[in-house]
Amino acid sequence: MTLPKKLMKTMEDIFGSGDSNRVFFAPGRVNLIGEHTDYNGGYVLPCALEIGTYAVAQKRKDRECHLYSVNFPEEGVITFSLDDLVNDEKDGWANYPKGVIKAFINKGVEVRGLNIVFEGNIPNGAGLSSSASIELVTSVMLNEMFEAGLSMLEMVELAKEVENEFIGVNCGIMDQFAIGMGKNHHAVMLHCDSLKYEYLPIKLDRYSIIIANTNKQRGLATSAYNERRESCESALKKLQGILPLQTVSDITLQQLNDHAELLEETEIKRVRHVITENQRTKKAAQALINGNLSLFGVLMNQSHESLKKDYEVTGIELDTLVELARKQNGTIGARMTGAGFGGCTVNIVEDDKVEAFIEEVGIAYKERIGWAADFYTAKIGDGAKEIDIKEEIT
Ligand code: GLA
Repeated sequence: MTLPKKLMKTMEDIFGSGDSNRVFFAPGRVNLIGEHTDYNGGYVLPCALEIGTYAVAQKRKDRECHLYSVNFPEEGVITFSLDDLVNDEKDGWANYPKGVIKAFINKGVEVRGLNIVFEGNIPNGAGLSSSASIELVTSVMLNEMFEAGLSMLEMVELAKEVENEFIGVNCGIMDQFAIGMGKNHHAVMLHCDSLKYEYLPIKLDRYSIIIANTNKQRGLATSAYNERRESCESALKKLQGILPLQTVSDITLQQLNDHAELLEETEIKRVRHVITENQRTKKAAQALINGNLSLFGVLMNQSHESLKKDYEVTGIELDTLVELARKQNGTIGARMTGAGFGGCTVNIVEDDKVEAFIEEVGIAYKERIGWAADFYTAKIGDGAKEIDIKEEIT
């Protein structure tokens, strides 16, 4: 049984057969290169994955929302009223859809009560954006069910605002953008300041994209993330005193060197990462266009080094996975992906070396770190959308 079909069945079991069940999907994402550049007005190059979050919804006659997640059965059905949409710790995962519902109502959309069943197949805590995925699947659902008429870009911006304001995570726009706007067989080259973007075909030829999960629990990730952001913002503020700059990505290496005395050592390192990462991301996009995957791999490796030494967001687990990956015959690039501090690496590996990669890196990682990593072959998929149930059922 496909996941959407299974979900329809769960919907019936829990809420009975409503007359207008509709199914929606939003993917996870992996970023190929361009890390910690989004909130600095720079470039990112992510793609949407085939894995993601599914949701089945049916309208209710009252103003209540009843939400159930197959991933968190122990939490049961979470219930709240459309007239009381506040972030409540006890509602756990349901705060994401709740925040999105609130944002739609704030936009003037006439949302009514809903029963919703969610199920995701993005590995938990892997840094493949399960939170942006649930935000976007909820957005597309509300947009379609209440005919709100928002464009995908508006929903991407709305979801980012929910994450920043309702959830309280100060992220940039990359995850929501990749998940909303992603396209099968393509990466999205996005300039995060202007939101200009381009789809670049991923022609992997005889290579695969392998995602490796450190399985490290990321306890302090949010505060460390916000600290990185603050260092960049304070460096920008200082340099804006003497230079006409809008974002950190406007700073050149020359300017950074010329005015180093205005900045603290940490600020210099953080800004240097952003500048060089933007350069690498532009080169990587060109390498992808030219079909030069080995250059793409070299840039990925350099990106990881910069995230390790200048941005300091890697850690022993990510560094070990990357080091072991690079030792493998047939690996042409390996780097951390996402926020860092744990989560996943992304690797480009020759097809017929993938099996050995997974086995050998897996064994050595477990020996060094003490627990196992997980490996997935990344399949690139489409952005958030409604799923045609009839097609699924026949
Ligand atoms: C997280 C954030 C993104 C981005 C990355 C780092 O995934 O949600 O906005 O900042 O980290 O590139």
